[in-house]
Amino acid sequence: MKIVVVGTGYVGLVNAVGLAELGHEVFGVDTDQKKINLLIKGHEPFYEPGLKKMLKKNLSQGRLTFTSQLTDVINQADMIFICVGTPPKRDGSADLTYVKSVSEAINRYAKSGKIIINKSTVPVGAGKILEEILNKKNGRFFQVVSCPEFLREGKAMHDFFHPDRIVVGAVKAADGQKVMELFAKIKAVKIITGRETSELIKYAANAFLATKISFINEISNLCEKVGADVQEVGRGMGLDKRIGLHFLQAGIGYGGSCFPKDVRALKQIAGGSGYNFRLLKAVIEVNNKQRKLFLEKIKKTMVNLSNKTVAVLGLAFKDNTDDIRESAALDIVKALQSFGAKVKVYDPQAMANAKLVLPKKTIFCLGPYAAVENSQAVVIATEWPAFADLNWPRIKKSMKGRTIFDGKNLLNREIIKKIGFQYIAMGR
Ligand code: UGA
Repeated sequence: MKIVVVGTGYVGLVNAVGLAELGHEVFGVDTDQKKINLLIKGHEPFYEPGLKKMLKKNLSQGRLTFTSQLTDVINQADMIFICVGTPPKRDGSADLTYVKSVSEAINRYAKSGKIIINKSTVPVGAGKILEEILNKKNGRFFQVVSCPEFLREGKAMHDFFHPDRIVVGAVKAADGQKVMELFAKIKAVKIITGRETSELIKYAANAFLATKISFINEISNLCEKVGADVQEVGRGMGLDKRIGLHFLQAGIGYGGSCFPKDVRALKQIAGGSGYNFRLLKAVIEVNNKQRKLFLEKIKKTMVNLSNKTVAVLGLAFKDNTDDIRESAALDIVKALQSFGAKVKVYDPQAMANAKLVLPKKTIFCLGPYAAVENSQAVVIATEWPAFADLNWPRIKKSMKGRTIFDGKNLLNREIIKKIGFQYIAMGR
């Protein structure tokens, strides 16, 4: 199949590369010429394990090309994927400006009707709105099929080839089937649903995972009051197959470009349909509160942070990514600075992105050991596994203080305490 993928952000680029690897001829399109220039040379515009290798391979084998001009490739495509951003508006609802403008362009320039596959996360019913734009006064017929993505940043390439399921939502099942055939080589449970159902599955999945995180964070706060250990409670619960062990890691709350945005958007979608989704309000409230509780612990323990040096390890919203969108770590750095602390930071991948948004007074260090040197306290704000493997006895010697605030429950409490640290984690 010949496929055009519009948008080369996380979703678009991973899909473009993945579809090329499956043997399709793929044209990646993005209005950002700088990004296209990078991609043509085989450089990935963001860090994602495994992406670069596969990008280079498919470029060199001629299955993958990139352009900033949709009109150059639009008429070569059998199908067009829309993978552009749907950022949140002020009220939390998704902004459809970009998906709409791609639809306008297809309406204007495509010479024959095609299947348009929407992978951008859009409110329920958006497929219908896009179809109206696509078919406006043109005598051709475009069907919009929904194909939500469930990729996790940091594991996106793996998830593309080994998904738990592939969902396709279409008005006519036959169109859904045609889209599903693109993924014929992938072994997974494949389900074809109505379009609205598919659009809602995406939000429901993300909102449920976010709910699991807020639930375990509430349990974590309760653990601290009753003297229980949230790690063990999570394991004890999660071993029940109906609950599952995943997404029961308590900490400073979820961040990233998806959960915060999608939970708020689903709440808006419900509200707009006259339904009061009470549970989601609590999920959001708990998540916002979690980083504040963590900061209160730091303040209470350190008493006065004025002129004290604090090292923050981790800036990305989670491990294995350079993405800092809605990262709790950034809020923590800024709050510590507002309490008067001198903050030294380190992240294995997210330093360049963080430099663009953190205050000038932030001290960016070349490595974790440089960050912790002479600090009164260390804060772990991202669950990078490499932080657990640091030489903690060496860190202890190089610090001025001996306190670790582990916002991600990453370290082995017994070992850390044995080294002589004061160890303060979440719900333990
Ligand atoms: C999430 C979903 O997991 C993907 O399935 C979905 O495709 C994606 O959103 C999306 O909509 O595009 P992602 O945002 O990459 O993926 O990150 P997650 O691995 O889900 O983690 C989200 C946040 O939750 C992170 O801040 C992480 O630290 C936090 N988290 C995760 C916890 O606090 N506890 C956990 O147990 C798990």
